[in-house]
Amino acid sequence: MPLTDKFGRQITDLRISVTDRCNFRCVYCRSADPENHVAGHELLRWDEFERLARILVGMGIRKVRVTGGEPLVREGVEDFIARLKEIGVADLSMTTNGHLLAERCERLVAAGLDRINISLDSLDPARFEQVTRTKSFGKVMAGIDAAQASRLRPVKVNAVLVRGLNDGEVEAFAEFARDRDLIMRFIEYMPLDADRHWSRDLVVTAAEVKRRIEARSPLVPIAHEPSETARKYKFADGRGEIGLVAPVSQPFCGHCSRIRLTADGKLRTCLFSKDDHDLKYLLRGGSSDDEIAGAIRDVVAEKEEGHRINEPDFRPPSRTMVFIGG
Ligand code: 5AD
Ligand code: SF4
Repeated sequence: MPLTDKFGRQITDLRISVTDRCNFRCVYCRSADPENHVAGHELLRWDEFERLARILVGMGIRKVRVTGGEPLVREGVEDFIARLKEIGVADLSMTTNGHLLAERCERLVAAGLDRINISLDSLDPARFEQVTRTKSFGKVMAGIDAAQASRLRPVKVNAVLVRGLNDGEVEAFAEFARDRDLIMRFIEYMPLDADRHWSRDLVVTAAEVKRRIEARSPLVPIAHEPSETARKYKFADGRGEIGLVAPVSQPFCGHCSRIRLTADGKLRTCLFSKDDHDLKYLLRGGSSDDEIAGAIRDVVAEKEEGHRINEPDFRPPSRTMVFIGG
């Protein structure tokens, strides 16, 4: 029986955060204050993630994205990718900040990774440092080069736009997509930053991004699956692709097919869930696979209708992105 919620949405995509650690401190994600990191969450072991993944694939999960924190900082992630492929994950991807990608790309491909999303929030090294609070611009660019030279397809590059910080770079990112023949995705800033600086006027909407790109180069819409987060466009006159991800201005919750597993073994039915559901307790308490599957089915049935960012009483979740996994 497929995994569905009470609104009839079929759940086919799983995001697994394998660590809440990260070697970057992006302003829209982590705190400026290095002390403001709740340590001591006990991570699931690889074999525990693998068991949950096997149960979930048995329940209809077809797409898995390995994320973090930064997934490449956790030792053993390549072996985990290989296990996921063995289990029968049809579409296996990873989201990474790219810092360690150049040196790890071949091993990831050999393990069976299908595709990759790399975060890149500025094409200017100084501004990149402002956003990520690291000097890794060159390493990330080398990571993108390595991904494009490898069998990973497609290579997507993600930028979170924040007004007054990197919103001047929309046109440059569009050129980058054309020059490099890759998919450039613009993601609206969501209220998931650790320092709670998010406000609506810092959000650069997908409509603005589209208007600005189109002023220079006409865009042609590409068909997308209903559950896909991005509205996709190619350039009328060339290579490359644009994806607009608009969780704030055009919520796509109605067709959501996603659930999330946190690094410490909690199931989350939405980025913005008020509660998460402890599976580690079941894993370590002797529950059978069937019992765990039953618990997952019950939690998923109650998946919330949507994120409510645009409701007057909206409150951000207590866990921010680095704990939940993007
Ligand atoms: N808003 C939107 N996207 C975010 N990400 C992290 N924090 C936020 C936020 N507050 C993105 C990263 C990366 C993915 C893991 O999630 O840029 O692409
Ligand atoms: Fe790290 Fe990604 Fe958060 Fe940046 S957005 S701090 S790369 S987890």
